[in-house]
Amino acid sequence: MMQVRVWRGKADGAFQEFEVQRHASQTVLDVVTHIQRVLDSTLAYRFACRVGMCGSCAMTVNGVARWTCRTHVDKVVKKEQIEIAPLRNLPMIRDLVTDMSEFFDKWTKAKGRFEGARTRSDDFARVFPDSEDRKLVDAGIECIGCAVCYSSCDVVSWNPDYLGPAALNRAWTLVKDERDSKKIERLRAVAGDAGCHSCHTHMSCTERCPKQISPTAGIAGLKREVSLALFRKAL
Ligand code: SF4
Ligand code: SF4
Ligand code: FES
Repeated sequence: MMQVRVWRGKADGAFQEFEVQRHASQTVLDVVTHIQRVLDSTLAYRFACRVGMCGSCAMTVNGVARWTCRTHVDKVVKKEQIEIAPLRNLPMIRDLVTDMSEFFDKWTKAKGRFEGARTRSDDFARVFPDSEDRKLVDAGIECIGCAVCYSSCDVVSWNPDYLGPAALNRAWTLVKDERDSKKIERLRAVAGDAGCHSCHTHMSCTERCPKQISPTAGIAGLKREVSLALFRKAL
């Protein structure tokens, strides 16, 4: 048996304790699901794929943001105890569910949507897999929007306007996409007080990203691109 402390309610809520049986290969999501199905059906939480594809099961486990479906209890349990809370840096809706609106609103603010210039009558763009830019895009493109990095970033905690690692990483992959036609607008969007220059290179986002993406590297790239554009008087 292990003791599981689970956050209940909103920001003014409190932890509630449950006793849960240990099993082989048990994940933290299995524990939360057991509590909701067997011990307290009012517990609110979110998941979809259970295999590390959707990112919706992210929570704070013993103080660290993680995908709960890919986190084995054996890896995180301490003295037969686990603490499970919602992601940091996002408003709580209830229990383990956070409101992701501001996280995705910041993708929009960082102009995180591809905008090409070709029409359907143009030929396909030829992007060579071994080109420098394509390799940089490859390193950041597999983001699934789980907000683990966002929840781990202290600058987001200090400055709620900061666009955060995921939105900036997305902007970086578009800035390096040779088919995209809005590079300058995108650099303008990430150049302000809430943009890439607010990053203090703490690396928590890079250490925690379950997809092994380095938003820190992408943000450093954005800083360089913004400086170059300013130098060329393009911004
Ligand atoms: S960069 Fe990584 S941690 Fe951040 S949202 Fe994307 S997949 Fe999740
Ligand atoms: S490297 Fe920048 S974006 Fe990533 S956690 Fe640190 S301050 Fe936040
Ligand atoms: S439930 Fe989809 S990533 Fe965990």
